[in-house]
Amino acid sequence: MNCCVLSHAGGLYLQIVCNINYNMDMHQDVVDKQVDSDPCQSLLEILVCPRCKSDLLYNVTPPRYLCLNSQCGAIYNFIDEFPSFVFTNSIEIQKDTQNHYQETPFLWGQSGIKEKYLMHSGAGRFLKEYHDEIVVSKTSLDCGCGAGIISRYLHEQGLKVFSVDLSLTSLRLTISTGINTIHASNLSLPFRDGMFDIVISSGVVHHTPDAQKSVSELIRVLKSGGLLYLLIYRKESFQYIEYSTIGKILRTISKNNLGNNVIDKVIVPLFVPFIYAGKMIKFRTFKSSTLGEYRNYFYDRYITPQATFHSKNEVLQWFEQYGVKPVKYFIGNLGYHHNFIVRKL
Ligand SMILES: C[S@@+](CC[C@H](N)C(=O)[O-])C[C@H]1O[C@@H](n2cnc3c(N)ncnc32)[C@H](O)[C@@H]1O
Ligand SMILES: [Zn+2]
Repeated sequence: MNCCVLSHAGGLYLQIVCNINYNMDMHQDVVDKQVDSDPCQSLLEILVCPRCKSDLLYNVTPPRYLCLNSQCGAIYNFIDEFPSFVFTNSIEIQKDTQNHYQETPFLWGQSGIKEKYLMHSGAGRFLKEYHDEIVVSKTSLDCGCGAGIISRYLHEQGLKVFSVDLSLTSLRLTISTGINTIHASNLSLPFRDGMFDIVISSGVVHHTPDAQKSVSELIRVLKSGGLLYLLIYRKESFQYIEYSTIGKILRTISKNNLGNNVIDKVIVPLFVPFIYAGKMIKFRTFKSSTLGEYRNYFYDRYITPQATFHSKNEVLQWFEQYGVKPVKYFIGNLGYHHNFIVRKL
C-alpha cells in the first residue's frame, strides 16, 4: 500500500503520508529478518532516518529502509529504483512544488549548449575556481539536482556523487551508473552529519517553505573543512519584482486549463526569442536549446509555486549561526542570484 498510517511519537499522533507505511508488528518482523549484502545495504554508512536521524536497516524483500528507533518506526519504500525518504507532515508539505517540477523539470543546459551552460553558471564558476580541491575530494552531494548536469560533471571528476531531488522526473533525468539518486527533501535530509566534502545547492533552497532550514541541513551534512556552493534568489533584484507581479498574474491564469494553454501555446513562444537572444550573446553561440528547455525555464522563473528572495545580510547571518565561513561571494546573471561559497569550520 502506498498511503497513510498513524504512528505515535512523543505523545503526538503524527500523520505520515505517502510512501511510509507503519505497523509496529510488521516493523519488528522485518527488522528481525536476515539482511543481505547489497549496494543499498552499504548506503547505511551514509543514510539515517530523515525524521529522527536514527540508524536505518535495509530490508531486501521487499526493498525498503526501516528506522531502528521504535518510537519513530518509519519505513521508507522505493519508488521505481529510488529509495524515497520524502514524508509529509507539518512543514514538509511541498506537494505543489513537487508536482510542478515533476511536470516541468528544470532542463536548462540539458542539451545543445550543455557545457557552455555549466561553465557560465554560478555553479560552473565554483567548479572551475575550486577545481583542484574538488578533484581530490571524495564525496559530494548535489541537493536539488534537476536534470543532473552538475551531478554528471562531479561524477566525471571522479567523486562519489549523491543526487537528491523532490521531483522523481528530475531523478529519472539524473540517474546513471555511479550516481546515487535519492528521493528526499532538502528540509530533512536522510544523511548522517558531516558526510560530504562538497555540497552543491544551485537554485533550490528558495523553492522550499523554509530556506534557512534547508541551508542548515546542507551545512549539517557537510564535513568540517568541506565546501558548500549555494545559489539563492536575491531580494534586491528585478526578478523579485517580476515574480511577484507578472509571475503572480501568470500563476493565477495557469490554475485553469484554458489559462495554462494560453501560457503554453502563446506566452512561452513569445518569450523564447528573448531568451535565445540573451543566451546567444552570453554563450557566443547560435546553437539553440530545445523548446522544452525554454518552456521549463519559463515555468521555473514565473510559474513555480514557491519562491522566496533573500538579502545578502540575511544569508550571512545564517552562516554565522551555523558555523561556516564565507570564502567567496558573487552576484549572478542580471543580478538575480547570490552565489556563496562557504567553508565549514
Ligand atoms: C531550479 S531547479 C535547479 C536544478 C539544478 N540544481 C540546476 O541548477 O540545474 C530546482 C530543483 O529543486 C528541486 N527541489 C525543490 N524543492 C526541493 C526540496 N525541498 N528538496 C529537494 N529538491 C527540491 C526541484 O524539484 C528542482 O529540481
Ligand atoms: Zn526515524
